Amino acid sequence: MKAPRLRPKDTTTPEVGTDFVPIAEEARNEAPRATIDPDASLTWLRRVKPIMWAHRGIFITSLVMSFVGLVLMVMIPNLLNKAITNSIQKHTVPLSHYVWWIVGLGLVGAVAGYVSRLFLFETAYDIEYDLRNILYEHLTRMSFSFYDRVQTGQLISRANSDIRSVQMYMTFAPSILVQCSIAVVAFIFMLTINVPLAFVAMATMPFVYFAGVKMRNSMFPVSWIIQARLADVATIVDENVNGVRVVKSFAAEQQQLRALSGAAEKVQWSYIKDADLRARFSPVVQNLPQVGLALVLLFGGYMVIHGGLGVGAILAFNAYLVMLQAPFMMLGMLIMMGQRAAASADRIYEIIDEQPTVTDKDDAIDLVDCTGDVRFSHVDFAYASDAERLVLADFDLHISPGETVALVGRTGVGKSTVGRLLTRFYDVRHGSVQIDGHDVRDITQASLRANVGVVLDEPFLFSVSIRDNIAYGKPSAAFEDVEAAARAAGAHEFITHLADGYDTVVGERGYTLSGGQRQRIAIARTLLVNPPIMVLDDATSAIDVQVEQQIHAGLRIRMEGRTTLVIAHRLSTIALADRVVLLDQQKIVADGTHATLLATTPLYAEVLAQAGEYEANADRDGDHPTTTGPRPDGKALRDLLDSVRTGGRS
Ligand SMILES: Nc1ncnc2c1ncn2[C@@H]1O[C@H](COP(=O)(O)OP(=O)(O)OP(=O)(O)O)[C@@H](O)[C@H]1O
Ligand SMILES: [Mg+2]
Repeated sequence: MKAPRLRPKDTTTPEVGTDFVPIAEEARNEAPRATIDPDASLTWLRRVKPIMWAHRGIFITSLVMSFVGLVLMVMIPNLLNKAITNSIQKHTVPLSHYVWWIVGLGLVGAVAGYVSRLFLFETAYDIEYDLRNILYEHLTRMSFSFYDRVQTGQLISRANSDIRSVQMYMTFAPSILVQCSIAVVAFIFMLTINVPLAFVAMATMPFVYFAGVKMRNSMFPVSWIIQARLADVATIVDENVNGVRVVKSFAAEQQQLRALSGAAEKVQWSYIKDADLRARFSPVVQNLPQVGLALVLLFGGYMVIHGGLGVGAILAFNAYLVMLQAPFMMLGMLIMMGQRAAASADRIYEIIDEQPTVTDKDDAIDLVDCTGDVRFSHVDFAYASDAERLVLADFDLHISPGETVALVGRTGVGKSTVGRLLTRFYDVRHGSVQIDGHDVRDITQASLRANVGVVLDEPFLFSVSIRDNIAYGKPSAAFEDVEAAARAAGAHEFITHLADGYDTVVGERGYTLSGGQRQRIAIARTLLVNPPIMVLDDATSAIDVQVEQQIHAGLRIRMEGRTTLVIAHRLSTIALADRVVLLDQQKIVADGTHATLLATTPLYAEVLAQAGEYEANADRDGDHPTTTGPRPDGKALRDLLDSVRTGGRS
């Protein structure tokens, strides 16, 4: 036996051909420029600050341009006042002088407005892009236990609307604040025209602000509820689309519609509540400045009549108040956007802050030159960390390099769980799972999974071509290799009969193929990677016995020297193994050849009978529950039984 070799993850002196090389190396994704601060005690805005900072260049340019544009705008009413006084009333300056100034300022303002808007939106979408990548990158790191719990609709809504509302606030809040800062400039201009009138004009602004604050306090809970309920709707829609086959086969459309309309009604209710609150506050916020205008007219008009002020001043004040109205109103909106963004950010952080339970150790090593020695020793495992009842308890199993072992047991006993622990989809509670003598927790996940291939009983295909589906684990594979893998998996023939052969694009999840066809593609997908250890979890359950035999013939050639764990209910599948182990009551209760187990362990015959596989029980029960696909015909089964009993492999 060749000694397994392991190397530290970041070794800088690679030896050609001995290091672990990630299979999909060329598909590496560029990381976002910045990430969210992991310190959960910070406020939500401080946590996203690094992302804002990464885009500071265009963002600050945009804000500066916006400020310049606004200052120019503020200068115009002042010019208007001077034009009326100096050119129209006193005739001391030609009117054209002011006209040209106003036109010039307008033009420069337009350019500044263009640049600021363009850069602002660019920043917004850059930030959205980063946030989405950060979230998705985090999701890819999350462990299986996370996906067991989480609902797809919740994730989708967080990746869409929540990211959008955070992004909007991050970019538009500073821009609105710049616009509000213009209020200060406008106020200074008003002061230069007439001090008392400036104070009169601004008198209502604090009320506008307080109305905004009041609005925020009552609207915040509603906006939070809206986001949560939208996610509920997304979840129902997602389940309905994904589970449409079940819905339709039970004619449960009406039932589902009711569930959806129930959730939609709650969204509608929250939106109406939101609109109601908005309708109460908005008119107040919008009309308060009109009160300001009335006050200016009253006091300003009085001053003009008594000769203390020019008519132009009233016009200028009027223009300023109209100009100020927008920022102050937006200030109210900003406060609301802030609350919504805070709620959204919390929902995003809820995911970001959840740490994957299965992670690489800092000093994890890459598994290279794997010989395929597998050992479970004293393994205790349960899916929930606080569960009292264990799925596996003090479980021991050793598989020697190159050996093919069939794992048999009643349904739900934990067979698939054994496979999931070997690939470290979950971590054991006690004991250890070792490959080549190394605890799987000490090996990098990438190298572990490159060495341990799993074929699941419910194969998931992507909506791409069959060729790309088979080459999923090794995108650079040559077409001949893809075809060879398909042949070994008994898939080549049916693929060539499809309209576009290997280029046929399969429907979502591969639903345009039969269950057995999907399973064969899944087997080909794993065979192409050619891992030294392979787990076949009921991988041929939907394939009829004749085809299965062909596949097994192909597999046997390819299994030479490979450690294989076959999880099986069917005798035809078990026949593939050198050794059979029986799992019951959390541990292996029998270990030997099929023939010995059949002779010595009544439970073994019982388990096979349950799967409708053991003819001896046919007479006793007179009925065979077939739980795992088509029953093999009597003769084929007897041949197989015989061949297994005589120890032959075919
Ligand atoms: N993701 C999960 N979260 C929580 N419990 C789980 C999960 N997967 C399986 N279980 C539970 O663990 C036990 C073992 O499941 P497992 O899938 O290993 O059974 P199995 O032997 O493969 O069954 P089958 O022959 O039906 O495929 C079952 O009781 C099951 O309910
Ligand atoms: Mg299973």
